[in-house]
Amino acid sequence: MSLSSVTAIAHPNLALVKYWGKRDAALNIPTNNSISINLGGLTTTTTVLFDSALVEDSVTLNGATARGTSHERVVQHLDRVRSLAGVGVRARVDSRNDFPASAGFASSASGFAALSLAATRAAGLDLDATALSRLARLGSGSACRSLHGGFVEWIAGDDDGSSQAEQLAPPEHWDLRVLSVVLSRDEKELSSAGGHEAAPRSPLFEARLQSLDTTLAQVRRAVRVRDLPALLMATEREAVNMHAIAMTSTVVDKPWWSGAFYWQPRTLQLIQAVQQWRGQGVQVGFTIDAGANVHLLCAAGDEDAVAQRLLELPHGASTEILVSAPGEGARILADS
Ligand code: DP6
Repeated sequence: MSLSSVTAIAHPNLALVKYWGKRDAALNIPTNNSISINLGGLTTTTTVLFDSALVEDSVTLNGATARGTSHERVVQHLDRVRSLAGVGVRARVDSRNDFPASAGFASSASGFAALSLAATRAAGLDLDATALSRLARLGSGSACRSLHGGFVEWIAGDDDGSSQAEQLAPPEHWDLRVLSVVLSRDEKELSSAGGHEAAPRSPLFEARLQSLDTTLAQVRRAVRVRDLPALLMATEREAVNMHAIAMTSTVVDKPWWSGAFYWQPRTLQLIQAVQQWRGQGVQVGFTIDAGANVHLLCAAGDEDAVAQRLLELPHGASTEILVSAPGEGARILADS
């Protein structure tokens, strides 16, 4: 096998309609479709080199040798690529994020998207974005949405061959801004995998699934016709709906918990501030993933007004904010 080192980049994505609950945990088949926007302001860069001189895979994440679960997850993903390509050679992987590792934003989506593209190319395969999205999904479900640019829907499907992402609209379709507000750098007490596992045990889960077709239709329409008020309202209600499931889920390995609370006091403070700001005429809305941090959505022209309001909140001056426009899909940076 020729030694070729391939570098790919990918952005994390922010779910407007959330993936929360799996129908098949081994294959990451979700219980429902989800819709996201790629965060162009945050980037993961991953280089893969298959090298017959290696006796085992070597994985470096943000400059440090990966160990334990993070090493295992990358090796398992390389195994998937090796089996697709019919090769047995070990690989060297170097992956870096340009956003702070401690900022509390999951890098598994951008990480597995960039790894899927770089590793398949380095192994001599040439998969299209949809096939890559199915592969990335096996590494981390939400990673499948980072292969395409802009606004993306993950079609839940019902097996490995049909659970894949497709683009709803390219990044230039709508000049939105996402202000990702870092409220907590602490590791969350329940991983998203733990949250997915617990979700179906919420008595509200069935009701969520029943309302999702309406939510998905509202968000698809709002994106298509660029209806910001409709997008903000649907996105906000959806985020709270997901968290209502988490808060009422039975977490088996934490029997002393009545439910999973990802929010912290400042999360709720910002939720209430956003509702007030909208009452005062600022077109801004929030969404929250499995963590305490809040992502604010607004039109590009309102970015400064929203940032100014954030600054005026208690602790505002010391709050870190990462700004993104809709980003491109995963792409090759260098192939040598
Ligand atoms: C709340 O994709 O991190 O961000 O498939 O177990 O790796 P695994 O889960 P992951 O879950 C993301 C959950 C979420 C919602 C979303 O991104 O849709």
